[in-house]
Amino acid sequence: MWSTSSRSRMAVFIVMLTLTYLFSTTALVTGEPRAVCPNPIVEAVEGHSVSLPCHLDPPDNVVNNAVDWKRTDANKVVWAYRNKKENLIDQIAEYRGRVTVNLQGLNIGNMTLLISSVKKSDAGPYRCFTSKLRTGCNLSLIFVPRDQQNGTKLEDFSTTTPPTHEPDEPGAENMKRVRYIILLVVGVFFIIVIVALVIRGMNNAES
Ligand SMILES: *[C@@H]1O[C@H](CO)[C@@H](O)[C@H](O)[C@H]1NC(C)=O
Ligand SMILES: *[C@@H]1O[C@H](CO)[C@@H](O)[C@H](O)[C@H]1NC(C)=O
Ligand SMILES: *[C@@H]1O[C@H](CO)[C@@H](O)[C@H](O)[C@H]1NC(C)=O
Repeated sequence: MWSTSSRSRMAVFIVMLTLTYLFSTTALVTGEPRAVCPNPIVEAVEGHSVSLPCHLDPPDNVVNNAVDWKRTDANKVVWAYRNKKENLIDQIAEYRGRVTVNLQGLNIGNMTLLISSVKKSDAGPYRCFTSKLRTGCNLSLIFVPRDQQNGTKLEDFSTTTPPTHEPDEPGAENMKRVRYIILLVVGVFFIIVIVALVIRGMNNAES
């Protein structure tokens, strides 16, 4: 039933699929990009602009993913990105027109938030998050009133606190494991089916 050429084509097909499978599981388990907030505490002077750095490490494209900046004390949206566009429907009113993320930077996973005309209500905990691998990181904005700012403080927006290396969210860790198990099961099932087909093909060819 199976000619020699169709059997060798089958062999190439199996090898290619097996390689693809191995590559994708390896990529899933190792070297996944994580969101990093290099400055966990950022000082911002009243009336000035400030950037809240957040990026994927290693860099990875998030253009096709969701990106969220939230105030974690209120669990409300500061800035959001959906379907390749800013989505500011649920944005906290205080931030309207004052916050932005450079959309070009999303190509390399740079989700840095820029806040202009800093005001007192901007002080608080923030979370940067992307649906890509469900990774995120936290930081706090410290408000410095205009009259308390010192010459040196002006450029020194961020403190020297070492970055906190947040492990992936508990959910993300579990999701990874679930994805890995699903891939493993699918892979094993797939290999069994292929082997069964090949054996049947050989038997048919012999008889
Ligand atoms: C991210 O983008 C901001 C501007 O939006 C820029 O200042 C910053 O250097 C970029 N960071 C990285 C890691 O590319
Ligand atoms: C500015 O300097 C004064 C004393 O020179 C100090 O008390 C104050 O804490 C400083 N403010 C900030 C924001 O560092
Ligand atoms: C970051 O903030 C979120 C929301 O408040 C919280 O669930 C999470 O545990 C925080 N992560 C760290 C490392 O503090």
